[in-house]
Amino acid sequence: MPGKVILGAQWGDEGKGKFIDIFAAQADLVVRSQGGNNAGHTVVVKDETYKLQLIPSGILYPNCINVIGPGVVVNPKAVLGEIDGLHEKGVSTDRLLIDARCHCILPWHIELDALSEAEKAKEGAAIGTTHKGIGPTYMDKSERIGIRMHDFVDQARFETVIRETCARKNRVIEGVYGGKPIDADEVIAEYRVYADRLRPLVRDTTAITWEAVKAGKEVLFEGAQGTLLDLDMGTYPFVTSSHPVAGGCCIGSGVGPTAITDVMGIFKSYTTRVGEGPFPTELFDQTGDYIRKAGGEFGTVTGRPRRTGWFDAVIARYAVRVNGLTEAVINKIDPLRGLPRLKVCVAYRLQNGQTVTEFPANFMDLNGCEPIYEEFDGFDADITDCRSFSELPQTVQNYIRSLERIIECPISMLGVGPARDQVMRLDR
Ligand code: GDP
Ligand code: IMO
Ligand code: MG
Repeated sequence: MPGKVILGAQWGDEGKGKFIDIFAAQADLVVRSQGGNNAGHTVVVKDETYKLQLIPSGILYPNCINVIGPGVVVNPKAVLGEIDGLHEKGVSTDRLLIDARCHCILPWHIELDALSEAEKAKEGAAIGTTHKGIGPTYMDKSERIGIRMHDFVDQARFETVIRETCARKNRVIEGVYGGKPIDADEVIAEYRVYADRLRPLVRDTTAITWEAVKAGKEVLFEGAQGTLLDLDMGTYPFVTSSHPVAGGCCIGSGVGPTAITDVMGIFKSYTTRVGEGPFPTELFDQTGDYIRKAGGEFGTVTGRPRRTGWFDAVIARYAVRVNGLTEAVINKIDPLRGLPRLKVCVAYRLQNGQTVTEFPANFMDLNGCEPIYEEFDGFDADITDCRSFSELPQTVQNYIRSLERIIECPISMLGVGPARDQVMRLDR
């Protein structure tokens, strides 16, 4: 009964979309369980590139059921935009389902995300969110005032809940931030059309996911964001507002932990981060620029240049632990080509002189910390056509074997290019 989680083990954008797409070829159901359209998952098939934000990355397979689970926050306009985009490319979305419990991202959430970030920026404390309204929507969910999909698509309730919530939110927009109020009539007119279109997709998906699990079908849990962006386990407050760690899959898809048999963590062979917050191995020099360019490290959602740095095994070991990883993938090895030396951070020397190998709970402890590196020889060969471990240059093999030793988790696959087939399995 394989229930496989595929999640981000760093700060997001590790290549989750690519691996979900690969495993979805054999899967019966793919479920997203957290986040929203702050995610940007890329799937490359031949000459076509698909950028998915809310729709699970199994959508390209006609037999696979794709579920937006209860823990996801859904922007109705955005999900319809994605559906239309896929239809234009000839991809069917007949097997897409949205859980009735999903909270809706509505215009006031996006407005409040921007207002709150602008306010924080004045104190030099902006998070650098994607401005998609993610935090404010999860706040409403916790405050128990959010609008769930079942209310949104309910013809009898739609207008009332929009009008009441808009009035409540305008009090905050105007009163707290001095912002411009949102016109409820305009929202009702525009979003009623979206509600009509989404109604046929809305279900209790937890029953469908459970039936698949019970029948021993192949179920994939698609992570979004990454471990270090987790609301509890990440570099708080520079995190997202949901739970990208493996445990979040159960809560956000509505099945228990016994449904999960395997937890695959996706790492890049280096580290990236978008937005603000600590990043001990960040490179501010030419090497950082080199990796950014070679890896095409520009945000899928916002287009922002991603911050780049060496592989950080302190956070990697932390990700192995807090997710209970059963296997690791080292993706995007090809962008390191041409660098004479490769570095891996194995510990931090803190400002007080102490050396630590555990990721600190308080990110402030990282201020002024110095990464301690192990160094490896680089490689010059083009590895993008390699499909087996033995074809890789000896220095790459050594780098991978060393990472496996350092992170203390079996490495099961490698990625050497963006396409579906640019991967290899490490059968040993
Ligand atoms: P996700 O959010 O984890 O799904 O990752 P993103 O799609 O945001 O970012 C990964 C980027 O790297 C995308 O542009 C992918 O097409 C690309 N990519 C994925 N795997 C590889 C790889 O092995 N090598 C290279 N060069 N690019 C890759
Ligand atoms: P995928 O699934 C990388 C980051 C934002 C910001 C912080 C909070 O493609 O890996 P939010 O809008 O969620 O409130 O922003 O989280 N962030 C991501 N970074 N990949 C993502 O998703 C991200 N989703 C959010 O940049 O720092
Ligand atoms: Mg991404």
